[in-house]
Amino acid sequence: MNILKPPEVREITSLDKKLFQKEVQLPCLTLKDMKLSQIVPHNTESEVRIFLDPEKVSAWTSLTEDARKVLNDLKVDETNLKKVEYVLQYENFTADDVLKSVLPPDKEGKHVKLHKGEILYDKVHGCKSVVNKTNMIDNTYRNFKMEVLKGDDDMLTTVKENGCTFKFDFSKVYWNSRLCTEHERIVNKVNSGDVVFDVFAGVGPFSVPLAKKKCYVYANDLNPDSYNWLNHNAKANKLNETYFKSFNKDGGEFIREDIKKYLPDCLNNKQNVYIVMNLPALAVQFLKDFIGLLKNYDTELNFSSPPIVFVYCFAKGEDYVAIAKSLVIENFGFDVSDKIVDVFKVRTVSSMKEMMRVTIKLDGDLLVGDLPKKRKLEEGLELGNKKINVGVKVEDTTEDVGNRQGLVHLENKIRKGPVKLPKPDISSSKLPTINDEDVLETQKKLEEATQVLHNI
Ligand SMILES: C[S@@+](CC[C@H](N)C(=O)[O-])C[C@H]1O[C@@H](n2cnc3c(N)ncnc32)[C@H](O)[C@@H]1O
Repeated sequence: MNILKPPEVREITSLDKKLFQKEVQLPCLTLKDMKLSQIVPHNTESEVRIFLDPEKVSAWTSLTEDARKVLNDLKVDETNLKKVEYVLQYENFTADDVLKSVLPPDKEGKHVKLHKGEILYDKVHGCKSVVNKTNMIDNTYRNFKMEVLKGDDDMLTTVKENGCTFKFDFSKVYWNSRLCTEHERIVNKVNSGDVVFDVFAGVGPFSVPLAKKKCYVYANDLNPDSYNWLNHNAKANKLNETYFKSFNKDGGEFIREDIKKYLPDCLNNKQNVYIVMNLPALAVQFLKDFIGLLKNYDTELNFSSPPIVFVYCFAKGEDYVAIAKSLVIENFGFDVSDKIVDVFKVRTVSSMKEMMRVTIKLDGDLLVGDLPKKRKLEEGLELGNKKINVGVKVEDTTEDVGNRQGLVHLENKIRKGPVKLPKPDISSSKLPTINDEDVLETQKKLEEATQVLHNI
């Protein structure tokens, strides 16, 4: 058991912070009568105590030879190192540590929720509400029901991401801050003047920053709430309507009607076109809509810069790259392996379940040609250690069952709520006296001091 963790506090009915007090003995270097600013930058005191990590330092000899030498050179030796009694308090522990000390592993129930609510509300800076997800993401719009554990019953939220502000009702739309980096990656791949069709746009985390950087964005979402917040966010981020158009329809219809309508001009203007499809449980099922999409277009099309699709999917299994590829090929229904230009792991969702991004080049073969006839997967196709046959469903690599219109999603993970755990909250003002330094801060300072000493 780590000395700096709180004691186990089980079976409590209310959050009594005194129960978390813990006496510890900490190794402490007392330094005085010397030019302390050399060791602790900006110090003006005549005496400073530097607390060391008790897990790492039990005696003078625990310090490295180099550290001892620089300290010796400053006339600091083992007589300066003493064990000092210290009382750690609730305020010194992180929310995560406090939760672990209160909640037995894997236990659910009324008190568990009460404590989670109260502790997170108390510990997370600026927290307005703590919610518990009461169902799995099991509906078309990817939102979930929530119960408020502590704080306001109002789920209106404002978040900042990639230089834009997004406002939405978290109980009615999909939002996942864990996708921030992926949104940023895509925004960085696309240049001003490029065209983007965002088939499952949500409240706009791809579309809004892209339109802000003057890409021509066509953003669609089936959920009327998402669509309304998407438009709100477009206005709030001062998007020019030249760069932003929104649609509220099924992704398939959006492809067959709107992408079909706007794509020919983009191709003939030699614009780079990107199609973003982030509905990982289902998006691959919409790929078929691209086959022969521009077949009956009456004039010749310029495919010198073929449209690029970023389609997201879940891959469950060790060979996640091959699984993601096979999902794409299976859903096209013919061999498109030469059109898959990249398979990228976006994030780990849970054990053995990865969110993947597959990049596909939609060339003339696919959009206007006879490829489906030529390349049907009659014989089956080897991919990694997987054999794919048309008509034989590849193992369902998501936990979703259902179809494009009526999705049932079985996700076991409980989302912790729209709050992030804070960094360890051990600010010096919250520590009991001895002096104003806190354990972690001083440890950091000692490291800095050692660095300073090395440089002397
Ligand atoms: C996983 S969210 C992604 C939202 C956003 N692009 C992001 O990256 O956070 C999928 C979105 O697709 C929308 N959606 C679900 N089924 C749809 C369909 N058939 N057609 C269009 N949008 C759909 C949902 O409402 C949801 O906003």
